[in-house]
Amino acid sequence: MKLSGKKALITGGNSGIGLATAKLFVEQGAQVAITGRDQKTLDEAAALLGPGARAYRADVTNREERKQLFEALAKDFGKLDIVFANAGISGSTPTGSTDEAVFENIININLNGVFFTINAAAPLLNDGGSIIINGSVHNYLGAPGYAAYAATKGGVVSMARAIAGDLAPRNIRVNVVAPGATKTPIWTRGASSSAPDEARQKRVAAIAAGIPLGRWGEPEELAKAALFLASDDSSYVNAVELMVDGGATGAPFGAPMFRQ
Ligand SMILES: NC(=O)c1ccc[n+]([C@@H]2O[C@H](COP(=O)([O-])OP(=O)(O)OC[C@H]3O[C@@H](n4cnc5c(N)ncnc54)[C@H](OP(=O)(O)O)[C@@H]3O)[C@@H](O)[C@H]2O)c1
Repeated sequence: MKLSGKKALITGGNSGIGLATAKLFVEQGAQVAITGRDQKTLDEAAALLGPGARAYRADVTNREERKQLFEALAKDFGKLDIVFANAGISGSTPTGSTDEAVFENIININLNGVFFTINAAAPLLNDGGSIIINGSVHNYLGAPGYAAYAATKGGVVSMARAIAGDLAPRNIRVNVVAPGATKTPIWTRGASSSAPDEARQKRVAAIAAGIPLGRWGEPEELAKAALFLASDDSSYVNAVELMVDGGATGAPFGAPMFRQ
């Protein structure tokens, strides 16, 4: 077991990549705290994960809820060894027609929420710990309509490097895991959930055609990359962005859509 005796916090651990990672961390011997906003999926996740995990309702953007969360973690867990700042949302912010509140909400959750989670966790972290931030291929894609999301996902990479500098004297490593298209509920939340089935299937196939491995990622594949960064297997890996995207950013012209 790679995480025996370790204590981990996973924000957004009640869904998608966070939930798959919580499951793998528990299997690997960790005690895991998961957070999210939705009490129903938090309860379901806690039941699925069993006694190795505890669920806490806390919005990463809410100062008071964050305070209560870290007070509860200090009481229930004492110290932490691993923080996976994973909670995030997507959202459309086309240039020329975007409302300020929509833009700011994405920045607030995906960037401010990540920093203030790590800021509050730092005093609880044991020396030698590991911090992982969930990034995205949107740091590189230049995808239309994604200015706010892309800014947050580029922002967390430069932020991770600065935090790695801050925490280096304590031997705490700080890395980003950057997923490509991964099969999670993020794709069916909000406006995209109202798209007709056929349109959605077309979009899924179009995205797969742009990935050299020709398919979407599974949340469990992201969990395995997070486990690598959380465990001693990555003991000399620090301040990197690990792309887990089937080659979408590294070898885009190898994608099925470019094959004769
Ligand atoms: N799936 C992909 O294709 C993909 C690609 C690149 C990057 N990512 C990144 O991966 C991360 C996880 O996303 P996912 O794909 O697993 O999507 P998901 O299934 O929608 O999970 C998102 C998680 O974030 C939590 N969350 C959102 N806003 C929150 C807030 N204000 N406070 C606390 N928790 C909050 C959600 O909890 P509640 O539902 O309880 O609010 C949920 O657990 C995100 O950072 C996303 O940007 C995903």
